[in-house]
Amino acid sequence: KITPIILAGGIGSRLWPISRESFPKQFLKINDAPSLFQQTVQRFQLAGFTRPIIVTNEDYRFHVVEQMGEIGTLPELILLEPCSRNTAGAVLAAVRMQADRNPSALCVVAPSDHLITDRTGFTLAIEKGVSAAISGKLVTFGIKPDRPETGYGYLELGKDDVGGGQLAPVRSFTEKPDLQTAALMMSSGHHLWNAGIFLFRTSDMLAAFTRYAPEVAAHVDKALSGNTLDLGFTRLDKDAWMALPDISLDYAVMEHADNICAVPFDGHWSDLGSWQGYWREECRSNTTQDGLVTIGNAHGIDCESSLLMSESADQTIVGLGLRDLVAVAMKDAVLVADRNRSDEIGTVVNYLKSRN
Ligand code: GDD
Ligand code: MG
Repeated sequence: KITPIILAGGIGSRLWPISRESFPKQFLKINDAPSLFQQTVQRFQLAGFTRPIIVTNEDYRFHVVEQMGEIGTLPELILLEPCSRNTAGAVLAAVRMQADRNPSALCVVAPSDHLITDRTGFTLAIEKGVSAAISGKLVTFGIKPDRPETGYGYLELGKDDVGGGQLAPVRSFTEKPDLQTAALMMSSGHHLWNAGIFLFRTSDMLAAFTRYAPEVAAHVDKALSGNTLDLGFTRLDKDAWMALPDISLDYAVMEHADNICAVPFDGHWSDLGSWQGYWREECRSNTTQDGLVTIGNAHGIDCESSLLMSESADQTIVGLGLRDLVAVAMKDAVLVADRNRSDEIGTVVNYLKSRN
């Protein structure tokens, strides 16, 4: 059986102001639908998987417990980070815990900010990766790019492998390229986006960390040796975690590893990490006029390619003659931004923090 490791510790700052540090986007329930976190857990409620390991910030522990309760699932383990140090440490801590129980266990790492509507196709893609993972590969999942996105990782495959639908070796992994490189990779026809989901044997991921990110490994070891069990939560040691390098799994390990494979996935996948992603997803799933998306009590006159949103029924937001804009009104905060710069909205949160 495969153990899901679900990453639910991001603060989702690019979706400010609906995503807040105290209640990030993965736990939001828009129109009472299951949250992205709950959808992620449900994706693995299948015979071939064990209960999931959840890695999250200690501030979110009750959201995790409550939301898992609502969908009737128990976690295998909830690992609590005392502060955010990106995904490398979070993944390694979970992998280490699992390796102590079973060194040859298979794990799948899944982010909790994705929308994947084709569940059957997703499960099939994972199944296609299993034999490679058992033979020592780090298996990734590739999405056909439709734009030169700079917020994703890129997997370089052989030209015939890109559309083949079958598992193929990855020649190189490039995380978050600049626009020019992204455009080159997109037009080469050799590249797929990295979906951010990874399948591997615990022993192989441990070996990769020892080789490519020994500093991360050393701090995670310390944080685990100082871990405490508290009301069913496993808390990582605070001092060790504070000293951990702040780096993602992609930069720490995946860009360097030489044993990566990819399964192309052609079902619908989207990262709802930013307003741009949100806007794109709304345009795809609803018919919009001129790319104008309005959510809640929001109206646009002569507006195009924009997203207007009001949180509350008694607060109206109206746009006139707008283009490529995001405006989100909440009771205590209003965001107005260039839609094409929505990847930078995290800096708004930092800016506000620095002023407080
Ligand atoms: N537990 C924990 N702790 N989870 C975290 C932390 C942390 O400190 N930081 C981020 N996460 C979670 C986020 O909540 C998200 O679910 C997942 O880890 C990935 O983090 P992102 O910050 O959203 O990464 P990204 O979208 O920029 O890039 C990754 O995903 C892309 C596809 O969506 C990379 O893997 C890219 O290569 C990939 O293309
Ligand atoms: Mg993301």
